[in-house]
Amino acid sequence: MEQTEVVKPETLDDLIKILHSIFESDCINVEEVQNIMESYESNPQEWMKYAKFDQYRYTRNLVDEGNGKFNLMVLCWGEGHGSSIHDHTESHCFMKLLQGQLKETLFEWPENKSHGDMVQKSQRILQENKVAYINDSIGLHRVENVSHTECAVSLHLYSPPFETCQTFDQRTGHKNAVKMTFWSKYGERTPFETTVSQENN
Ligand SMILES: [Fe+2]
Repeated sequence: MEQTEVVKPETLDDLIKILHSIFESDCINVEEVQNIMESYESNPQEWMKYAKFDQYRYTRNLVDEGNGKFNLMVLCWGEGHGSSIHDHTESHCFMKLLQGQLKETLFEWPENKSHGDMVQKSQRILQENKVAYINDSIGLHRVENVSHTECAVSLHLYSPPFETCQTFDQRTGHKNAVKMTFWSKYGERTPFETTVSQENN
């Protein structure tokens, strides 16, 4: 049987170039993107300039706008930092671990009239260089760096790009629309962010 040739990105820039060409097409093969992202071997020297941490919560740092087809960003998770439970605004979401580990907890969408705790579907630990995928039909998730001694860094690709998502209260299932902001863009700290930034994504 013939094997499909997988291009291995040698650097982060290389990965970005390959992603640009893949996303020129409007029809996206999830497995292909996942494989390409996974085959990039994390090299801290290449993504260090995007890795800006905050003491209190995780940060979102824009790396590339993907010709309007996707947003690529580096998320920096300090010890114990985590997201809220959130959706992905009908986009594809790919998440690659560049450093450390993250815990992903998957939830079902709350029923319209349901009350009480949200239903947890599964939980897993994502290891360095691995790529996780989620979209709204798979469910909702929460992402956490549960380590008290190690920080974590992840590379996220969202396509199409989006600026708002919904967050959910685990105890009630009640949802809230939130606007997402960038802590930095292209390695430069975003000045005077006027929007109140909330835990999401
Ligand atoms: Fe997410």
